[in-house]
Amino acid sequence: MAKRTLRFVCQACGAVTGKWGGKCESCGEWNSIVEEMDGGGIGGGPGRKPRRGRVVPLMPLAGATDSAPRIRSGIDEFDRVTGGGFVRGSALLVGGDPGIGKSTLLIQVAAALARSGQPVVYVSGEEAVAQVRLRAERLGLADAPVQLAAETSVEDILTTLEAVERPALVIIDSIQTLWTEMVESAPGTVAQVRTAAQMLIRHAKETGTTVVLVGHVTKDGTIAGPRVVEHMVDAVLYFEGDGARHFRVLRAVKNRFGATDEIGVFEMTGKGLREVANPSELFLGERNRASPGAAVFAGLEGTRPVLVEIQALVAPSSLGTPRRAVVGWDGNRLSMILAVLEAHCGVRFGQHDVYLNIAGGLRIQEPAGDLAVAAALVSSLAGVALGADCVYFGEVSLSGSVRPVAQAQLRLKEAEKLGFARAFGPLATGIEAGGPAMRFEGVEQLGELVARIAA
Ligand code: TYD
Ligand code: MG
Repeated sequence: MAKRTLRFVCQACGAVTGKWGGKCESCGEWNSIVEEMDGGGIGGGPGRKPRRGRVVPLMPLAGATDSAPRIRSGIDEFDRVTGGGFVRGSALLVGGDPGIGKSTLLIQVAAALARSGQPVVYVSGEEAVAQVRLRAERLGLADAPVQLAAETSVEDILTTLEAVERPALVIIDSIQTLWTEMVESAPGTVAQVRTAAQMLIRHAKETGTTVVLVGHVTKDGTIAGPRVVEHMVDAVLYFEGDGARHFRVLRAVKNRFGATDEIGVFEMTGKGLREVANPSELFLGERNRASPGAAVFAGLEGTRPVLVEIQALVAPSSLGTPRRAVVGWDGNRLSMILAVLEAHCGVRFGQHDVYLNIAGGLRIQEPAGDLAVAAALVSSLAGVALGADCVYFGEVSLSGSVRPVAQAQLRLKEAEKLGFARAFGPLATGIEAGGPAMRFEGVEQLGELVARIAA
C-alpha cells in the first residue's frame, strides 16, 4: 500500500497545498479548501510490476479490419455536436445546470443507439432503476433495449460492465454521485470526481467502449464541478438553456475529434427533447413586428446559419454611472461597440442605461454580431424601428470600419429563405453574382449605417 499523506485540495480549481487556508492562493476562491487523504493515486502504487506495452502502426495497413470509427446515435442534433457520432474508446463529458435536461437527453440518445442494435448501458447514480424506467416510458422509449443499472461505486460499475455484453456506449449519470475506494473523501469532492473519472476513462480506452460522463455545473465550491474532468476527457459538451424557456442548446466546448463551433438545438416538450432542425424559425418565432431596438442578426453556428433577434433598450438613466446589462452576449464587447459609436459616430450613451438581450436564450460568440448590435442600440436610442425585412451581419473594428466575416453567402441564403428582403453587411464581402435575390447593402463604416437609421 502506498504511503498515505494528508493534503489540502481546492474544490473550485483543484489546486493542492500542504496546509489549510481560508482562501485558495491559486484561484482566489474562499472556503473552498478541503482536507483529503492522498491514496497514492490509482494503478496499484509503487509495488506494481511494469508490464510490456504494445506498439502499433499509426495507420492500419490497407485491408486491416478496423471497426467503424464512429457510431452515430441517430439523433442528428446530437451527432452534429460530437462531430459525426461517438468515437470508439473515447470519453465525453456532458455538463449543464441541474434540471436542464441532461438525463432526458442521454436516455434518448441511449435509446436511439440501442434501437439501432448497439448494446448500451445507462448507469444512474441519482435515480433508482424504477424512476429511470418511468421516465423512459413517459418518453415513449419503453421498447428500447437499454441496459439499466443503479450504482454509485466505480469498482461495482466496472465489475458490472464486465458481466454484460461489451457495450458500445456507457452513460454515467452523474459523475458527482460516484465514489471509489481508492480515495478517502466524500462523493462529489475533487479527489473523488477526478479519480472516478480517471478509472472510467481508462476503462473506455482499454475496452473501446464510449463513456459519457454527466456532470452538474455548480456555482458554489462545495461539490466539485465538472471542470476538473474537462481536461481529462476527449470532448466536453455543454447543455444550456434558459430554465423558463423550452429550447436547449448543446454546444461542444472541447472536441478532440471534431469542430467545437457546432451546436445542436432541442426543444423540451412534455414528451422529452425534440430536435429542432431549423433553429432560425425557432429563434425568430416570438417576433411579432419590428419595434425600436430590435435587429435581426444573420449569424452562423458552426456550419449552420442561424437568424436571431437582438434586442436593445436604451433608456435615460437616473444613476451617476449608467447601467449596462447583457444577456447572451459578451459585456466587454458591448462596451466596445458603445465606445465606437460614441467616438466615431457621434452617438452619446453617457446619460443612458443600456440593456442588451439575445432573444430565445441563445448565446452569441461570433464577432459578426457587432453590426446587428450596433443597429439595435442606435435604433433604440433614436426610437426608430429598423425595417422588419432587414438582417445585419459584420464585425466592427475599433476604428469604426465594418470588417468582412465568413460565409456571407450562406447567411444571405438563410435570410432569404425566411422571407427577409434586405441585408446590411461588410462592403468587402465578395457576394457572388447570381446569389440570393435579396438586396445586399454593403457598409464600409459604422457611421454610414447610423446615418441611415437616424435619417
Ligand atoms: P432532467 O433530464 O432530469 O435534467 P438534469 O438531468 O439535467 O438534471 O430534466 C429535468 C426537467 O425536464 C424537469 O424539470 C422536467 C423537464 N422535462 C420535461 O419537460 N419533459 C420531459 O419529457 C421530461 C422527461 C422532463
Ligand atoms: Mg439528471
